[in-house]
Amino acid sequence: MTQQSYYIETFGCQMNDRDSEIMAQLLSRHYSPALSIDDADVVVVNTCSIRAKAEQKAFSLLGRLRRNKERNKDLLVAVAGCVAQQDGEAILERLPHVDLVIGTQNIYNLPALLAEAGLQGRRLAAVEQTSTFEIPPYLPDADGGLGHRRFVTIMQGCNNFCSYCVVPHTRGREISRPLAHVMDEVDHLVAHGVREITLLGQNVNSYLGADGEKKCDFAGLLRRVAACGVKRLRFTTSNPHDLSPEIIACFADLPNLCSHFHLPVQSGSDRVLKAMHRRYTRAAYLDLVADLRAARPDIAITTDIIVGFPGESEEDFKMTCSLIEEVRYHGAFSFRYSDRPNTRSSGFPGKLPEEEKQRRLADLQDRIERIAAERLEEYVGNGLEVMVEGRSRSGQWSGRSSQNIIVNFEHPGEPRPGSLCNVHVTEACRHSLRGVPAATQGSRS
Ligand code: 5AD
Ligand code: SF4
Repeated sequence: MTQQSYYIETFGCQMNDRDSEIMAQLLSRHYSPALSIDDADVVVVNTCSIRAKAEQKAFSLLGRLRRNKERNKDLLVAVAGCVAQQDGEAILERLPHVDLVIGTQNIYNLPALLAEAGLQGRRLAAVEQTSTFEIPPYLPDADGGLGHRRFVTIMQGCNNFCSYCVVPHTRGREISRPLAHVMDEVDHLVAHGVREITLLGQNVNSYLGADGEKKCDFAGLLRRVAACGVKRLRFTTSNPHDLSPEIIACFADLPNLCSHFHLPVQSGSDRVLKAMHRRYTRAAYLDLVADLRAARPDIAITTDIIVGFPGESEEDFKMTCSLIEEVRYHGAFSFRYSDRPNTRSSGFPGKLPEEEKQRRLADLQDRIERIAAERLEEYVGNGLEVMVEGRSRSGQWSGRSSQNIIVNFEHPGEPRPGSLCNVHVTEACRHSLRGVPAATQGSRS
């Protein structure tokens, strides 16, 4: 009998990407990967509920899977991720062709739960939240390697309870992964040739592990990981409220810590920041930006912004626009406010009409795009160190600079993924740079 196959469809953030990777690894002990969703015997839909639109996307895919189930009665359909955590059993009631609903902290049990749901035909929802989590070790690829770029989860959940945010409800309270586990995973990756590590968590700045009796905060963790022989170190994501001077000092001291900081601001108006329960002011945020730039002059700062928060006036919105002009972000993700279940802001008065939110979003995005393009122009004529990812669609080589900017470049040789090339930037494109190998330095590994 041929081995059964699985397929995972992932929506949402890097936490979900990493969770899907873990689920794939667990499933690969029992199943082989399917070529497409329509060929699979097990389909896992890893969902996101950060905004209503993300949730709708997941439900529309799940709706489509009803026909697959009609074609193949043995197909097992599992719903994972934030919608699974949020809606639990209700998904089983709403979608009779779903076999398993698996919460964000239950994925480590996926094979056993699938077997239970499948063998006994017993549809089930496993969404209990726990206070610990054990991540299975990364398994090498068929060629014995682990690739050149990997995520390391350092914490899950969030305690900040920003008034608009569903995450504390879907990912639970903040739990830091034990320091020894994080360091073991980092050592394992580096020993297998991994060159870039991204530390991952909903709010990495408030990491708190322990080294024996001594506490290890996020700045301490950055210093330890940076000393492990990794070429590049990144992290995401950060709440400005928890960004300490010690973390900023790491940018002055650690050369392999990349020159990029994703620092979601959400709004430029103090009134709105307060209603969002962000616990910093515009002035405090601008001070952080100045401190980061003082510590690392070439740092690229990116952000997230919500427009049309309940009660946001035209004046508040203008404050956000002026903040964008003041910080001059290298890039920004911007979103229309969306009501989420169980959040405090879903009960706030002063909801804005969709058309008005859309108008503000379009205005803001024009500004963001213009400034990001100007930022890219600043690199033309300069050199950047690029970590190679592979060939781009146009046949050039492609990689990322320390600032996380995509750089496409000509190269006479065959640089390995993960190797570092010095590139002389010749042109700024819409969302990337173009260049040629820097004549004097060439490339190094
Ligand atoms: N509506 C719109 N955007 C949201 N975000 C989080 N919650 C909401 C919401 N209810 C945005 C924030 C966050 C990013 C991941 O998604 O900007 O930083
Ligand atoms: Fe979406 Fe947040 Fe869940 Fe990530 S943690 S999948 S962004 S709701």
